Amino acid sequence: MTQAKKLKSIAAPKGVPDYLPPQSPIFLGVRDSFAHQAHLAGYEHIELPVFEETSLFARGVGESTDVVSKEMYTFADRGDRSVTLRPEGTAGVMRAVIEHHLDRGQLPVKLSYYGPFFRYERPQAGRYRQLQQVGVEAIGVDDPYLDAEVIALADASLRSIGLESYRLELTSLGDATCRPAYREKLQEFLFKLPLDEETKQRASINPLRVLDDKRPEVREMTAEAPLMVDHLSPETQAHFETVTGVLDDLGVQYTLNPRLVRGLDYYTKSTFEFVHDGLGAQSGIGGGGRYDGLMAQLGGQELSGIGYALGVDRCMLALEAEGKQPFDASRVDVFGVAMGEDAKRMLMPLIAELRAVGIRADISFGNRGLKGAMKGADRAGARFALVVGEEELANAQVAVKNLRAHEQQHVATEQLVQHLRAALA
Ligand code: HAM
Repeated sequence: MTQAKKLKSIAAPKGVPDYLPPQSPIFLGVRDSFAHQAHLAGYEHIELPVFEETSLFARGVGESTDVVSKEMYTFADRGDRSVTLRPEGTAGVMRAVIEHHLDRGQLPVKLSYYGPFFRYERPQAGRYRQLQQVGVEAIGVDDPYLDAEVIALADASLRSIGLESYRLELTSLGDATCRPAYREKLQEFLFKLPLDEETKQRASINPLRVLDDKRPEVREMTAEAPLMVDHLSPETQAHFETVTGVLDDLGVQYTLNPRLVRGLDYYTKSTFEFVHDGLGAQSGIGGGGRYDGLMAQLGGQELSGIGYALGVDRCMLALEAEGKQPFDASRVDVFGVAMGEDAKRMLMPLIAELRAVGIRADISFGNRGLKGAMKGADRAGARFALVVGEEELANAQVAVKNLRAHEQQHVATEQLVQHLRAALA
């Protein structure tokens, strides 16, 4: 007899995480807490397509960014249209707002979203090719109080899952009234430096990015470079002062970082990033800012917006770095253990009743014996095991074992739901 050849197994694509139990409840906990905070502040959910026409990101995010020039998952579909797996959410939200005329109603339009995004980056700890974000966008009002609200909301979201060891870095990137003149001034400065070819190239396309160069020799050369915050127009200066003033009122702590540069091109005025101390190189757990020209750039009205996205994957790593586990990773509240078929017959409807009133309940399947079944109850993280053997069957009772306190009590079947509701409350 020939033996069937064992087929090679298949692994997930490189840089794409699986979140399995017991990590998956933490994933959901982080994502849902962030979404809930946005909901509390009046943001409505928007479910966006996972892929869009490629030109949306080229025009929206900026062709000179790494995200667009090096990291997009772009392919021709079967109709030969160029489509791209979304690398971020802001451009898609703007596209939807323009397409469905949401900007003609009450302003600001406040929308939140979550889900996977795709960037062909070099995978490492905290840097994935499929990453998860929760984001918000508030569109149509250029009010510094809104900037402060958005920043404070991101901060409240991070606090809501218990994170503490992070800092908020903040700056103003100016706007059309002052950035062009500053850009020229910065280029004038940079072009005088003995920079390598690639950096020179960057200085001519996006000079701000040179200020973010991490190499010590470039840092040294640019130590005296002119900074945007010293060249803001009186309006953007006043805007920024109001933002920081309101953040002070709200008790949100921040550090001013005039060299803060984001990886996406659309930012103007208030721009920020949340940086966690326990994550090594990939320390950005969230970021965002105002974007004045984006809507017009995508064919819409001249309306400004502001938003952020928090990285769910990195926030999970940050929780781990802080030694915090704020979410219940148990699978069920109660676990049924039936000794024999008659006992199973009796227990199944009781388990169904418990589920119907919102108690998470499972039951042991297969004929595992008491010891094996009790192990199953433990592994499921159950607080109570419901054991039914011959004696319980005869008396129409269930032995309710408290698995934390190691106590046991017999409860009549008709009182079981009520009893467990009280015990679990
Ligand atoms: P972003 O800074 O590119 O901003 O991404 C936001 C967050 O997503 C980052 O701070 C990081 O936590 C997470 N993230 C980004 N790339 C990766 C990766 N390769 N692996 C793991 N996590 C990652 C945006 O995407 C903007 N759309 C935010 C925004 C909204 N600005 C205005 N509105």
